[in-house]
Amino acid sequence: MTATRPSSSSSPSGLATACACANIALVKYWGKRDARLNLPAQGSLSLTLAELTTTTTVHFSEALDSDALYLSGQLVAGKEVLRMSQWLDLVREAAGITHRALVRSANSFPTASGLASSASAYAALAVAASAAAGLALSPTELSILARRGSGSAARSIFGGFVRMHRGERDDGTDCVAAPLGADDWPVRMVIAIVGGGKVKEHSSRDAMDHCAETSPLYAGFLAAVPRDLMAAEEAISRRDLEALGQIAEASALAMHGAAMASRPATIYFEPATLACMARVRELRRSGTLAYYTMDAGPHVKVLTDAGSAAAVAGALRELPGVSEVLVSAPGGGTVLVADAAPVEAT
Ligand code: PMV
Repeated sequence: MTATRPSSSSSPSGLATACACANIALVKYWGKRDARLNLPAQGSLSLTLAELTTTTTVHFSEALDSDALYLSGQLVAGKEVLRMSQWLDLVREAAGITHRALVRSANSFPTASGLASSASAYAALAVAASAAAGLALSPTELSILARRGSGSAARSIFGGFVRMHRGERDDGTDCVAAPLGADDWPVRMVIAIVGGGKVKEHSSRDAMDHCAETSPLYAGFLAAVPRDLMAAEEAISRRDLEALGQIAEASALAMHGAAMASRPATIYFEPATLACMARVRELRRSGTLAYYTMDAGPHVKVLTDAGSAAAVAGALRELPGVSEVLVSAPGGGTVLVADAAPVEAT
């Protein structure tokens, strides 16, 4: 397969494939300032991961009556398809086309389990669908398009450490992600899958709205983000894993604290989540630089250095309730895959 960087180029066949890496936020996005445009209430900062990928083929065709989505070969029905269809309307409108699309997507990791599947899903969709529709978009425009599908997806357009800007404008044109560099820094993310990667109970989308509406701690979470972003950027520029890790843990706990204080509560942690967190603290006491973060699911992702990743993975693998442990290096931005197998528009 040949991978090329977007901007997306014109595809007269209406067909294109893209591959995106998921990302894990070190300073969390949790809550919106505009629901329709999907504008976040605050900025965020993440690390794109090489091992967690989504590959998506989009085929616009006049032979189709409606949009269809296949995930790992299975036809998907319900609100996920409606959401994708409404998002595809943005692409159709921009490209001046009306054709429906057949979308085939596959993840290299458990879907909808808090492992950031919507990030890589909408990043891959943005690059594949815009190319298939013949739109030539810059990476910044692709980040804006991906954001309309999922806030975290705006970050997956880029590789490595990425800063998502809250922006000030009402139309969201300054609400974009941008890469922070530091590609030479050999960090790793160790991912402990808790509970077998089953489908999560509360989607991040619903849970963050519910938190913003009902949690007395939501304002406190939001207030901490600007200084966390500044400190995290400084830590990255100094290659200071300890400082970055401490911010990442604090941001994750602030997000989960606010979510837990929602009424009724949103609790993503399982016993094994807490066991992983305790193990990471123990590793740290014995001198390993390792810091945890959790998203809208029970899994624990641990930021560490390349030299410690195998030992951290080994320690988490031993814990009851941890079904799988992955180690990932930083990944690159979303790419078009030039010579992927064609998809049948049936
Ligand atoms: O992109 P969404 O709508 O799935 O929200 C992502 C929310 C978190 O993963 C919990 C945090 C983040 O910044 O990625």
